[in-house]
Amino acid sequence: MNINVKNNVHWVGKTDWELRKFHGDEYSTFKGSTYNSYLIKEEKTVLIDTVWKPYEKEFVRNLASEIDLNSIDYIIANHAEIDHSGALPELLRQIPDTPVYCTKNGLKSFKGHFHEDWNFKVVKTGDRLSLGSKELIFVEAPMLHWPDSMMTYLTGDNILFSNDAFGQHYASEFMFNDRVNQEELFTEALKYYANILTPFSPLVIRKINEFLSLNLPLDIICPSHGVIWRDNPVQIVQKYLTWADNYQENQVTIIYDTMWDSTRKMAENIARGIREENETLNVKLYNSAKSDKNEIITEIFKSKAILIGSPTINRGVLTSIAALLEEVSGLKFAGKKAAAFGSYGWSGESPAVITKRLHEAGFAIADDGMKITWNPDAKGADQCREYGKEFAKAIQ
Ligand code: FEO
Repeated sequence: MNINVKNNVHWVGKTDWELRKFHGDEYSTFKGSTYNSYLIKEEKTVLIDTVWKPYEKEFVRNLASEIDLNSIDYIIANHAEIDHSGALPELLRQIPDTPVYCTKNGLKSFKGHFHEDWNFKVVKTGDRLSLGSKELIFVEAPMLHWPDSMMTYLTGDNILFSNDAFGQHYASEFMFNDRVNQEELFTEALKYYANILTPFSPLVIRKINEFLSLNLPLDIICPSHGVIWRDNPVQIVQKYLTWADNYQENQVTIIYDTMWDSTRKMAENIARGIREENETLNVKLYNSAKSDKNEIITEIFKSKAILIGSPTINRGVLTSIAALLEEVSGLKFAGKKAAAFGSYGWSGESPAVITKRLHEAGFAIADDGMKITWNPDAKGADQCREYGKEFAKAIQ
């Protein structure tokens, strides 16, 4: 399938309606995804990125129905991750001498993945490639999303092929931002940013400012996942600048796991206390064992403060909380407050274990946390509500 993007630029990627997990099983993709590949037919013919490996044969077959593969002058490989490079071996088996443009780090990644000595051409920021009357300009974008990542800009049509940046895991037949449901689009774009790009926020700001300083007109942003930003593409750039700047809403998220409902009761009473103290705060509760991990991460991203609770088990915490703390630790959230709670029978280490991990993860610890023995009675429930009120004051 071929979708015209603008003039001689066409989308020739794959829409993956079936995808429900990405990055192994790490990222939930309830709305599928797309692997965007673009074909530019100027005086020179250029292919930008390919698709995930399971679709390599379908991709090359479709491409061959669009053009004579031998007419491809250049392949631009913006990023070596397999969701974009997976069809390169199949394609290059048919056109083995075609130059593959990538960054210096891309060269290492491609060789590491495919163990092939293709006709690589290493480029760096500011390098240009003439297509005749138009040019491609390369912009390295390390860590957006891997060290090898780069973006490619097409002059004349003013299109930025941004690769992972500005993407969404969002399958749609409509393919353009002005044609899809806006709430769905921005929900997926935010989830994508929160779960994938949060650790690189300082680099996001620097890279966007670097690109803006080039003073290149921007008509369209073509990411490598999800829909194309053709209606006011700067809106997603502005969103990224906002999200990258220690983003938070007036929200507290309480995440807990529970064995016999004691820690759940604590969570619900703490939430009640927070709301009684400050009814403007949006308080949300998630049982980490029953909720989608990526949704929880997105809610943490939106929060000014979080509370994490687990009963004590074997002097530690339940495994869903342990896994969440591991994930949160790597995401390097900044500017958020946190505290811990949990029920216990005899030793009661869980709040201290959680607090230590939250501190190590960069959260500002609001207090020493709260624990209650066995199942909270009416007095215990009141203690939780009072704790919630104090927590709400502490995060003002
Ligand atoms: Fe969509 Fe970093 O690959």
